[in-house]
Amino acid sequence: MTVKANTIQDTVAVEDRYQIATYKKMSIVAERGEGVWIYAYDGRKYLDLYGGHAVAATGHSHPHVVQSIKNQSEKLLFYSNLVYSEARARAASKLVSIAPAQLTKVFFCNSGTEANENAMRMARMTTGRENVISFAGGFHGRTADAISATFLGKYRDIGKPNVPGHLQAEFGDIESVSALADETVAAILLEPIQSMAGVRTAAPEFFQSLRRLCDERGIILIFDEVQTGIGRTGEWFFAGSEASDRVVPDIITLAKALGSGIPVGACLVNDKVASHIKENDLGTTFGGGMIAMAATTATLEAVEKDRMLENVRTVSAYLEKRLAEIPDVVSIHGAGFLLGVRFGCKAADIHKGLLERGVITGTSSDPNVLRLLPPLCLKAEEVDLFVDALQAAIDEQV
Ligand SMILES: Cc1ncc(COP(=O)(O)O)c(C=O)c1O
Repeated sequence: MTVKANTIQDTVAVEDRYQIATYKKMSIVAERGEGVWIYAYDGRKYLDLYGGHAVAATGHSHPHVVQSIKNQSEKLLFYSNLVYSEARARAASKLVSIAPAQLTKVFFCNSGTEANENAMRMARMTTGRENVISFAGGFHGRTADAISATFLGKYRDIGKPNVPGHLQAEFGDIESVSALADETVAAILLEPIQSMAGVRTAAPEFFQSLRRLCDERGIILIFDEVQTGIGRTGEWFFAGSEASDRVVPDIITLAKALGSGIPVGACLVNDKVASHIKENDLGTTFGGGMIAMAATTATLEAVEKDRMLENVRTVSAYLEKRLAEIPDVVSIHGAGFLLGVRFGCKAADIHKGLLERGVITGTSSDPNVLRLLPPLCLKAEEVDLFVDALQAAIDEQV
């Protein structure tokens, strides 16, 4: 039996009745979205500085992405990787064309956790070793291997029994990595900006030191760019950017923004890694499906056509300047449109105050850090709206 929800209250009640209670939800019944705005059934509209957890990079329902999905759906919804497809050929070539030059091949899957699972598997196949070093505060997903690499809060406990061979180093501390990086280690896996931990960054030299260590000791370097990838930092990737001291890893993992909301994950790999992967070593039914591929190509085209990378650089500088003018803001960290704003008070209270004023933001595992992950098309006038709401939410606290 399907239950029909006739009112907003019904929708909430029906979802709560039939969905396992695993998410802490905001009391918004979302109806539609456009650009940086979410429109709710009760007539309210919300300025979205969270982007559905960094997914809506091109803005909500970008017309080019919507049209591409529509066009593809009328031709063929899906066929597996056992046939060739123009949609897949276009997405793969487009993605590789914007990647750092060393990363020449892609494997498509469906999510961030799956991208990380496959990346670790490829590192093990390439090196013939098993162990993986990752970092305190990093988040890599909720499937068995990825959650075992997630040394943030309670996640590893949720994932018990953990996959063996996961070792924990300290983010930004090369000595802690060096002490673990022996001949048993296949990969070093890291979020180059630790988002969930409260948008923690490391010095550019750290990435250089990691690259050198991996080269010297035959270890595969994996950047989890599930959040930082596809323009969020104002560059297509953190890898190869100034913030990483131009370091390019052996594998980049992607998801979230890549399909503008259609589930797509990907591993971008270099020739060395690709040469170790043989037929049937990796696979997934849905990865590389036609709708996902149409969404991927259209997402990358939209970012380019609307000059979103330039927009992120300009508007994030303005956002940081406006935030720095607020005395209650203790510090701002991160890059581009992945920003952590530290307060003396609880970020959850600010988050609530902003929501009451029609602004969606994110919290993090650091109780004092509010996270901003807006669509890449956010404009300066919307920053002004946010800053006014933020000031009002802060004033309410004192
Ligand atoms: C950095 C990072 N890696 C991996 C994941 C897992 O992605 P997914 O939820 O698509 O499996 C996330 C999700 O939040 C993430 O932020």
